[in-house]
Amino acid sequence: MNVIEAINTRHSTRAFLSQPVEKEKLNAVLEAAARTPSWANSQPWEVFIATGNTLEKIKNGYRKKYADKATVAPETPRPTVWSEAAKERQKQLRPDMMRDCGDAVQQFAGLNQAMFNAPAVIYICMDQVLSEWSLYDIGAYSQSILLAAVEHGLATIQAITLVLYPDVIRQELKIPDNLKLTIGIAIGYADKSNKINNFVSSRSPLRETVHFYN
Ligand SMILES: Cc1cc2nc3c(=O)[nH]c(=O)nc-3n(C[C@H](O)[C@H](O)[C@H](O)COP(=O)(O)O)c2cc1C
Repeated sequence: MNVIEAINTRHSTRAFLSQPVEKEKLNAVLEAAARTPSWANSQPWEVFIATGNTLEKIKNGYRKKYADKATVAPETPRPTVWSEAAKERQKQLRPDMMRDCGDAVQQFAGLNQAMFNAPAVIYICMDQVLSEWSLYDIGAYSQSILLAAVEHGLATIQAITLVLYPDVIRQELKIPDNLKLTIGIAIGYADKSNKINNFVSSRSPLRETVHFYN
């Protein structure tokens, strides 16, 4: 597979099979992602992976939080303000999903709450003292994971819902206090029978976002 194929093939998967991910494949994905560029090669990512019983405990903790309607507390706050252009593009998400997934869209919230039934979640942290530039590096690192996963036949989704209740995650993973939990990436094998995974999100035409001067 070449890079362009990997970029075009990757899409967010919202329903996984229970089939575990081979540790060698996870290692290979993370070895590749470690090549991500970062400010002065600072490599700000600190990674914690939950699988098996540990992930089950986190999922149970989340179930309880949702049942109790607990207040969400992501350590990188969710955005409260969007530009008009970003708001317009976000409006396209639901109609696109309806187009590709039909009734399966109704599972969206439930699958998010169930951590997409993923067999593994990669949690990415960075030191609290680091700046937005390190968060920029974390974004690049995340994309490297997503693309390397494609090469190994693995499906992924990065999701804020995976880090809405950090206390549950911190209870199970030994994340040092100096680290901030930024994002989670669910990884595994796609449940191809679930139509929610048919969703291929659209993109704005280049002329809207790219300004070329000669
Ligand atoms: C930082 C970030 C957080 C996201 N959080 C969620 C989420 O909580 N739930 C979800 O279903 N998708 C989430 N997504 C996936 C986006 O909706 C998805 O990337 C976007 O619609 C484009 O679709 P694609 O990934 O299939 O190309 C998130 C993506 C990013 C980059």
